[in-house]
Amino acid sequence: MTVTPKPLVAGNWKMNGVRASLQQTDEMGRGLDAAMRRKVDVLICPPSTLLHAMSAALIGTGIATGGQDCHAEAAGAFTGDVSAAMLADAGARYVITGHSERRTLHGETSAVVKAKSAAALGALLTPIICIGETNAERVAGKTIAVVKKQLRGSLPDGVAGDEVVIAYEPVWAIGTGKTPTPADVAEVHAAIRTELGRLMGKAEAAKVRILYGGSVKPSNAGELMGLPHVDGALVGGASLKAEDFLAIIRAVG
Ligand code: 13P
Repeated sequence: MTVTPKPLVAGNWKMNGVRASLQQTDEMGRGLDAAMRRKVDVLICPPSTLLHAMSAALIGTGIATGGQDCHAEAAGAFTGDVSAAMLADAGARYVITGHSERRTLHGETSAVVKAKSAAALGALLTPIICIGETNAERVAGKTIAVVKKQLRGSLPDGVAGDEVVIAYEPVWAIGTGKTPTPADVAEVHAAIRTELGRLMGKAEAAKVRILYGGSVKPSNAGELMGLPHVDGALVGGASLKAEDFLAIIRAVG
């Protein structure tokens, strides 16, 4: 029997949001009814400056919070960085690691992403490890090879299936309004599941939530989320507004 993990819809606010934006999360909390909560796990990853206030405001709503990045070390002379334990202390339960914007703009390799993801586990956070090909890699027919390599390089050793989330985010689909075809998404997600099976064993691999991210919006969420091995979404722009984010959650549930 195949186990289907409970879907997760996660919002990545990136470098957006000030205290006034908590109005949106208040509205999300009010809009998420008990039936939806039973069907879907919901998460918002705000900038670190909002994490504590947002976590406190969302208590009792069923919406969890997470960080967008963490340092691999627990503490020390790392100006500007935030540790996994600090995120946990501010109320986070998850942290995104290896987002393509970190890999590209901050030069993070899969080895760095692996160390950060291990640090997250050490602080009892669930890492959401992002992987995905560039447009050039897709055009060259390298999508599956690139994604598998990033997965192998970024996954902490010995991690259990329910301790980690994988997000497949094609770089060219982020913030562009473009998405791969449903068949392409299904092919990559199936390949990720197979590779996870090789790395952690089939039973554990079946428990991993594999999210799709890249231009997810209310109008395409239903179709994308209905695909095999798609266990939720990592949403950027459309997670900033309660109305859109709730519509995506409803499409999944
Ligand atoms: P968009 O939904 O804005 O394309 O962003 C996707 C993303 O990068 C989420 O992490």
